Amino acid sequence: MGKQARAIVDLSIKDLVKDLNKAYCDEWLAFYLYWYMAQVVSGKAYEDIKEMLEKLAKDELEHAGEIADLIIKLGDFPTANPMDLEKNANAPYMMPPKNTADINRIIRIVTEAEATAIEVYNKIAKKALGKDHVTYQLITHILSEEVDHEEIFENFLER
Ligand SMILES: [Fe+2]
Ligand SMILES: [Fe+2]
Repeated sequence: MGKQARAIVDLSIKDLVKDLNKAYCDEWLAFYLYWYMAQVVSGKAYEDIKEMLEKLAKDELEHAGEIADLIIKLGDFPTANPMDLEKNANAPYMMPPKNTADINRIIRIVTEAEATAIEVYNKIAKKALGKDHVTYQLITHILSEEVDHEEIFENFLER
């Protein structure tokens, strides 16, 4: 991002980068959690859940990349050490269930993580609205995908 592009950001870039980096760490934790659960899930009718966990994991990794790109554009760097991801995230890592056939527990973990993501992005979008158009655009795009994620897994519960 050039000088003028940064100059029109009507927010503290330091605070904005802090919020974005927390979301970046959340995305990595969600990616790992979903990816891991996709590997281990078992039991009756696990295939649909496995496929959706893989799809969501891919989306979360994409979000991490998009946020990293934005942080770098703003002149900073995201968390470098994976050991710091949980410490810098908005929410602690949720452990997958020991019983890998507990699909209801998996669904609840995903819907809880998605609810947190929706809350986090809603807050950042509100802060960026009218203040930083580039951040607003990216964050609302990610938010709409988290909204879809929550719905996909809530629908599994209702079945
Ligand atoms: Fe995400
Ligand atoms: Fe998500």
